[in-house]
Amino acid sequence: MSNPATAHIDLQALHYNLAQIKKLTPQAKILAMVKSNAYGHGAVPIAKSLENSINAFGVIFVKEALALHAAGIKKTIVVLTGFFDSEELTTINELGFSTVVHNFEQLEILAKTKLNKPLQVWFKIDTGMHRLGFQPHEVLRAYQLLQDNPQVEKPLHLMTHFSDADEITHAKTLKQLACFTSVTKDLVGIKCLPNSSAILQWPEAYSEWVRPGITMYGVSPIADKIGADFGLKPVMTLTSRLIAVHQLKKGETVGYGSTWACPEDMPVGIISIGYGDGYPRNTRSGTPILINGLRCNSIGRVAMDMTAVDLRPLPNAKVGDIATMWGNKLPIEEVAQCSGSIAYELFCRMTQRVHYEYTV
Ligand SMILES: Cc1ncc(COP(=O)(O)O)c(C=O)c1O
Repeated sequence: MSNPATAHIDLQALHYNLAQIKKLTPQAKILAMVKSNAYGHGAVPIAKSLENSINAFGVIFVKEALALHAAGIKKTIVVLTGFFDSEELTTINELGFSTVVHNFEQLEILAKTKLNKPLQVWFKIDTGMHRLGFQPHEVLRAYQLLQDNPQVEKPLHLMTHFSDADEITHAKTLKQLACFTSVTKDLVGIKCLPNSSAILQWPEAYSEWVRPGITMYGVSPIADKIGADFGLKPVMTLTSRLIAVHQLKKGETVGYGSTWACPEDMPVGIISIGYGDGYPRNTRSGTPILINGLRCNSIGRVAMDMTAVDLRPLPNAKVGDIATMWGNKLPIEEVAQCSGSIAYELFCRMTQRVHYEYTV
């Protein structure tokens, strides 16, 4: 039997979501985030589909940029952690990628590496996330080193990343914004601030470039909301099939650990999907699953290859029927909540074993 677990990727929905983002920030250039295999949607097909509609792609590692390049992607690819050594920097430069520079170690490597063409640099400033970027008191010194380096293309891009933009009442975003405005007030550069949350709810943070990720994939970055609340459509629908149906007696248990017992005589379905495919093991019993489009609940522990479902709402369900784990008519945000996680992580857990189907 081949694995029936299938990620249906709706490229029309992807473009629909991009159009919603562009409506909010019509002047902005789009740095489309396709890191981590385009949030599990497949970096190459997503990038190919988006290439003519966006201005650059964002990845984390050189290896991710190389994969897009090898697939024939010509649009600018920005490597968001930059380079670890001269060799990586040379690769970035020779293949025409752009790079974030976020620490003095990278500036030293840049100073001692002879490049064959101008390097496009995104200068990252830490305004309070405290992951990557130059601290406010370091900004002028680092900026000047880049300005003085003839190998570096001018103007620079200036960027920062928000830590709490998903919370509309959080004062941190305005604080980060004020910090960015203050440290960059005398710098020449093209600014890039908003991620999805800021695009959706912090217009004061809009800049020449925006960096949408999760919203392109139709999902809400804001807790307790779903993509549809922002007019977005899910791009991924994850389905599989029932591979067994049992009539169990009251008191019989289902799955590893016998954690769930039938409260009455009832039909139970076994779906061919598990954490080996990326469906989270820690979804609790009661997590919604659509069987033939009808809402049912998961029961017992998710195993590597199988998940059990309570078929009482659909007593006539049979082997081969379609199970929708998330996507159309079943927001991934809801499933993520039932597993104590977020949609971002669920997407990124998708494994090679799942079959991907793209509809244009
Ligand atoms: C630097 C940076 N910019 C933008 C994004 C996109 O974030 P989101 O998917 O929330 O839009 C990310 C993702 O985490 C990021 O690390």
